[in-house]
Amino acid sequence: MAIQWFPGHMHATRKAIKERMKQGIDVVIELIDARLPGSSANPLLASLTDGKPSLKLLNKQDLADPARTQLWLDHYNALPGIRALPLDAGNKAPAKALVAACRELAPLRGGMSKPLRILICGIPNVGKSTLINTLVGKKSAKTGDEPGITKVEQRITLDQDAYLFDTPGMLWPRISIPESGYNLAASGAVGRNALDEEEVALELLDYLRLNYAPLLQARYRLEGSIESLKDDELLEAIGRKRGAVLGGGRVNMQKAAEILMYEFRQGVLGRITLETPEEFKSWAATAAIA
Ligand code: G4P
Repeated sequence: MAIQWFPGHMHATRKAIKERMKQGIDVVIELIDARLPGSSANPLLASLTDGKPSLKLLNKQDLADPARTQLWLDHYNALPGIRALPLDAGNKAPAKALVAACRELAPLRGGMSKPLRILICGIPNVGKSTLINTLVGKKSAKTGDEPGITKVEQRITLDQDAYLFDTPGMLWPRISIPESGYNLAASGAVGRNALDEEEVALELLDYLRLNYAPLLQARYRLEGSIESLKDDELLEAIGRKRGAVLGGGRVNMQKAAEILMYEFRQGVLGRITLETPEEFKSWAATAAIA
């Protein structure tokens, strides 16, 4: 599955990031989705930002499986030049923790003559606007006309000697790993038209059936063992339980898919993470061979 996401936008974003790097950046914050940390990271970012120290913020941690969030934090924190923190962007003002982590990554910066310069990046829907609004204490939404697209560079003062820069444009995910495409679609990070919803829901169910069966059973009151059901049988059972039935008693599979994905996105099913560091590594290795 090779999907090219909005190459025009991506080109402008790359230029904006490179331009900002030239003017000086000490630490790069990458906001990623705690439910799919590997898939929601942009693999080009390290080279675009000249390998600068990076703070990974695992946002939406309130929706993610806490044990798996810890696995991802351990994974990132073991890498040189990288720190990782969990985040719930709308809930708290995390400026102090962010600045402290960035100071650790760039210990030679600080003070009025050498202020700490931080760049923030993230793919669409990951919560960048929410975080920025929380940091500046605003309730209002996006900064541009188009949802999620910042038109001009913003500079936010986090501390007297620490600035956060938000470049214009949007960092799109580069999807060369099939599982990442499905996980991004399930999370709502890529548009509804990008992939067939029923197919995305079936892939999601396949993963949930194997990893989070008790949550599915509890939410949809499914009896017996669901591990042995095929994905479409399971989606049908969910549709039936939720009254997504057409004339003649047939299940409306599209509606069933929408219900499942809506409830996953809202966290109604429970706290779920769609990939572990180990799984993501093996998916990437398989995709590289293919
Ligand atoms: P973006 O700028 O990166 O594109 O993302 P944005 O901040 O617009 O956030 C996308 C959606 O994710 C928003 O929901 C936002 O409320 C939600 N969100 C952001 N951070 C968190 C978080 O830490 N936890 C949870 N649970 N949700 C978060 P929305 O449905 O598009 O809008 P609304 O619910 O705010 O009306």
